[in-house]
Amino acid sequence: MDWIQELAKALRDVSPSQICQAFYVFASITIITIQTLPTTYRQALMDYGARLQNKSRQSLLARFLDCLQVPHSWFLHFYILSVSLSAFWGWQYVTRGAVLREIASAQVAVAKTPSMDISQVYVAWALMALQGTRRLYESLFVTRSGSSPMSSLHWLLGLLYYASMSISVWVEGSGAIINSWEDEHIIFHPPKRLPLGVALFTAGWLKQYECHKYLSSLKKYTLPEQGWFKHIVCAHYSSECLLYFGLCVSATPSGKLFNNTVLLGLLFIAINLGTTAKGTKEWYAQKFGAEKVDPKWRMIPFVW
Ligand SMILES: NC(=O)c1ccc[n+]([C@@H]2O[C@H](COP(=O)([O-])OP(=O)(O)OC[C@H]3O[C@@H](n4cnc5c(N)ncnc54)[C@H](OP(=O)(O)O)[C@@H]3O)[C@@H](O)[C@H]2O)c1
Repeated sequence: MDWIQELAKALRDVSPSQICQAFYVFASITIITIQTLPTTYRQALMDYGARLQNKSRQSLLARFLDCLQVPHSWFLHFYILSVSLSAFWGWQYVTRGAVLREIASAQVAVAKTPSMDISQVYVAWALMALQGTRRLYESLFVTRSGSSPMSSLHWLLGLLYYASMSISVWVEGSGAIINSWEDEHIIFHPPKRLPLGVALFTAGWLKQYECHKYLSSLKKYTLPEQGWFKHIVCAHYSSECLLYFGLCVSATPSGKLFNNTVLLGLLFIAINLGTTAKGTKEWYAQKFGAEKVDPKWRMIPFVW
């Protein structure tokens, strides 16, 4: 049973931030692998929303996967989870709770990288809470839910993603969290880039709200053509990438290029939304004519 001891020893050397990072890499590889499957399975596993309208499946396996679909409106669960977890970690911090202490201590024991400043922990936590709250509000009061479906794999990945992101935003600040509990007087040393990160986040956050309001005003399904949608097929996805990039910049410890945990989360978002944006562009081209969508970017202006 040497290998079990070896494995246990190796796992003891893995930090919580590395576990989050491994999840993002694994989830990204899963999505990329699904893209290599035949179209019918790929659609059954990953497509959701309007893009799945009127798709009939031939094979038995694809039809079985269709049975595992849940409503697209279950996106609501992501934001209930996200807001609840933001509240949970906030409460753990204020009460010096055991769960936060365990994770932060495990991070400090293993991680060799510098910690975020405590001001960044507060800001990154608040930005994540703001994003979850706005999306929850939109899901409840703005989005006009249709009857479109989503695969349960997508739903499950979404839940895991929001659970992981709720930790990712502060985990590289574990040293600062523990210090702030031990020190009577907290001194803030925010890095110079913090305002830039907050500004990028705010721009993406406001833009995404505008995009969702606009989408909800459309007759289902028409071609979105206002604001950023004039040039980008999935402008709401572009704003999501922008706001998480802002979050990543805000949470980057001094002396580091980026917060690697949030950056890998952003990589997962870009791959996940990128595959959906690709499907959206193809669907719009079939429905409204290639000439209307060909000149537009899918998601990232000047890049893709
Ligand atoms: N962080 C992540 O990993 C992640 C993953 C997925 C999504 N998201 C974010 O969640 C938000 C929603 O994403 P989503 O993938 O659900 O977006 P979506 O498929 O474009 O749908 C958003 C809403 O707009 C409606 N809609 C879409 N296209 C329309 C059209 N042409 N005409 C009329 N209504 C239309 C949809 O209706 P139906 O309900 O009828 O489809 C749905 O209510 C996005 O901003 C995205 O960035 C984040």
